[in-house]
Amino acid sequence: MSLFQNTKIISITNQKGGVGKTTTAVNLATALASVNKKVLVIDFDPQGNASTGLGIENNERTCDIYSLLFEKNSINQSIKNTKIKNLDVIPASIDLSAAEIELSNVPEKTLKLKNIFQQNPVLSKYDYIFIDCPPALGYLTLNALATSDSVMIPLQCEFFALEGVSHLMNTIQLVQQNVNPNLQIEGVILTMYDKRNKLSELVEKDVKNCFGEFVFNTLIPRNVRVSEAPSHGKPVILYDFDCAGSQAYINLAAEFLTRNENNNLRKVA
Ligand SMILES: Nc1ncnc2c1ncn2[C@@H]1O[C@H](COP(=O)(O)OP(=O)(O)O)[C@@H](O)[C@H]1O
Ligand SMILES: [Mg+2]
Repeated sequence: MSLFQNTKIISITNQKGGVGKTTTAVNLATALASVNKKVLVIDFDPQGNASTGLGIENNERTCDIYSLLFEKNSINQSIKNTKIKNLDVIPASIDLSAAEIELSNVPEKTLKLKNIFQQNPVLSKYDYIFIDCPPALGYLTLNALATSDSVMIPLQCEFFALEGVSHLMNTIQLVQQNVNPNLQIEGVILTMYDKRNKLSELVEKDVKNCFGEFVFNTLIPRNVRVSEAPSHGKPVILYDFDCAGSQAYINLAAEFLTRNENNNLRKVA
């Protein structure tokens, strides 16, 4: 059973850093918000890149996801509106770096985030909640997976794209067996695709062999505008709507919605 009937909670996970998790969280969320979906991004990485990318200043991060997790402030204090209509964020501050150790000392180590969600039905006003995970398979990621309906896996089109993926899949399986039997794979996204580079094509083939239909058809190209946008505190879709990266994330959002709407139809049938 989902935590909330009309809200899909999605973890964006890969224990490798620099594969496009945060970029995907920020820009997929923005693209969905722009078609009137109500979206929340939870920045679950102490580096706080999703918060920065969504234009949240450091002084707005005192009521961050860490303090919500340890019940030092309320959900209403934690949720920040962004400049984008329909898109809110619960930011992260560096305080979150203490959470790995603190979680290891509490009784329900992997269920803390889920308990917070359950105590705050206000979260059910969102259509989609994306949890931008840190680059590790520690307690933060386990908490995210335990709370989620599905997991989205960005893979960078580089030689070692699939390295460590079996470890991630084992972790997902353990979560399914122990705390969240309903956790599904939302899909695999190929990021930083370079069509001039044969390697990108080879990685695409490999990943499709491994994950089949789970791989999104939309490829996210390597595009310098995507990497410039965060330093302006903006999703690339606002920074440069026409660039290839923006258009790819808009297409990804369309593909995501089609898949989800088909799934819902299947559920009803
Ligand atoms: N499609 C892309 N084209 C160019 N640069 C990208 C692209 N996607 C991400 N980047 C850049 O690569 C770096 C890592 O991306 P990020 O989304 O932060 O990865 P992660 O969250 O997995 O660590 C960032 O500097 C980001 O701006
Ligand atoms: Mg990140």
